[in-house]
Amino acid sequence: MGSIADPVIVPDMFIDLADREVRPMTPVRRTWRLKPTPSRHHPMAFINYITQIQIEFGAVQLLRQECERTGMRKPLIVSDAGVRAAGVLDKAIKALGDLSHAVFDQTPSNPTETAVRAAAKIFQAEGCDGLIAVGGGSSMDLAKGVAIAVTHEGPLKTYATIEGGSTKIRDRVVPLIAVPTTAGTGSEATRFTVITDTERGEKMLIAGMGALPLAAVVDYELTFTVPRRITADTGVDSLTHALEAYVSRRANPYSDAQALAAMALIGANLRTAYAEPHNAPAREAMMLGAMQAGIAFTNSSVALVHGMSRPIGAHFHVPHGLSNAMLLPAITRFGLEAAEARYATAARTTGFADGADRDAMAAGKLADGLAQLNRDLDVPTPGAFGITKAAWDARLAAQVDDPYAPLSPRVALWSGLAGLVMLTVFLTTIGLPLGVVLAFWAVYFLFLIVLTRIFAEAGAGWAWGPMVNVSKLFFKKMN
Ligand SMILES: NC(=O)c1ccc[n+]([C@@H]2O[C@H](COP(=O)([O-])OP(=O)(O)OC[C@H]3O[C@@H](n4cnc5c(N)ncnc54)[C@H](O)[C@@H]3O)[C@@H](O)[C@H]2O)c1
Ligand SMILES: [Fe+2]
Repeated sequence: MGSIADPVIVPDMFIDLADREVRPMTPVRRTWRLKPTPSRHHPMAFINYITQIQIEFGAVQLLRQECERTGMRKPLIVSDAGVRAAGVLDKAIKALGDLSHAVFDQTPSNPTETAVRAAAKIFQAEGCDGLIAVGGGSSMDLAKGVAIAVTHEGPLKTYATIEGGSTKIRDRVVPLIAVPTTAGTGSEATRFTVITDTERGEKMLIAGMGALPLAAVVDYELTFTVPRRITADTGVDSLTHALEAYVSRRANPYSDAQALAAMALIGANLRTAYAEPHNAPAREAMMLGAMQAGIAFTNSSVALVHGMSRPIGAHFHVPHGLSNAMLLPAITRFGLEAAEARYATAARTTGFADGADRDAMAAGKLADGLAQLNRDLDVPTPGAFGITKAAWDARLAAQVDDPYAPLSPRVALWSGLAGLVMLTVFLTTIGLPLGVVLAFWAVYFLFLIVLTRIFAEAGAGWAWGPMVNVSKLFFKKMN
């Protein structure tokens, strides 16, 4: 039985790579619309330390012990119908012995605020003092939502990253033990929860130390019953976490180490876990890889794949891992030129390229390899899933309106701006004064910004012109 990290809460630290000092600091809040995109050479890294993780075959048996260690006398177990039907929830309940508890097993896939409130009601009515999430990312995220909902005022939207709500979340909330049953979102080790705003039908990212579980029990035996489709989708999700963390503009030496370790495990084992559900070494490697990928992106970031994936999930009801899988090859190819060496390292680590390949060749093999992986894992295209081009285009504003999209190595907006620069050069060459052209662009963008906000509020799909073009491009390449 292994135990990772110390149960004592370690202070968050900034590692200043410039002067090698490690000192406690307050994290900087980012709202991407208002601040410039950070440079790849940004010297700071914000490292979150996890609490205690028990990781081993059969570790679920330690659940009672973990409740005692974290001081829970009556936990609310949060799960879903599929996990119950697979017999996995019963294993967890059995491990609690005679410890008093309540159960909420109605977590929807892509959990909603309505479901969070329903679980919170049971938590309060039953006098619970802690939470145990038994399930995939949906159950873990719902439990995180409950931990915040019962300790904070107002709708969860108040705490969403896009609303600048991260700093309003207190670090100390209701204790949560995460028991992941998919491999996986890595949510057991992240300070994020993704809850769908029931009114607006949009997935809200909520980020804060209050969303980081106090403990995790990571038992890969629980994943043997995961159906093949979900094994594939959750596996690609974890690969996406590792890859996006590694190429993100927030990548740092700590997250790099976790991301590379995750990529090696997932690259070598995902196909086997998909083909042979009871292959213990493959399931074990995937569980560890998924968790490390979670640690990687919680200390770096995700990027454009997740930025576009969240609204696709919310609007077209595509499972999270599946929408990532659909997007991953096209968006990786789009970003290659901006971080070629990093993508090349990722290609060699995942096994899509070998050491003899030069960077350009290896990076290209990564995009090809991810497309082949999708074929091997029977990932449908958006068209085959039933998403029409018209519906896709109508949702473009939400697809790019995400706090993590600009942390991608190549920001979608830039490619559009490159076109504008070329058009400016052309217009000045044929005789228009530069001042007139620039003034025109200023008015044009002001107009677009105003329209984007007005129409986005009204639920229609307007976005910045240059972004629209890039998103349209992706749809073509994904089908
Ligand atoms: N908080 C984070 O850091 C983070 C990161 C990535 C994704 N997410 C979120 O996680 C959610 C997706 O989570 P997921 O991909 O794990 O899927 P999920 O939790 O929605 O589960 C998918 C399906 O698999 C079934 N299932 C789960 N474990 C099983 C098992 N052991 N045996 C049989 N069936 C099982 C469930 O019943 C469900 O029907 C999304 O809402 C996504 O936004 C969160
Ligand atoms: Fe994800």
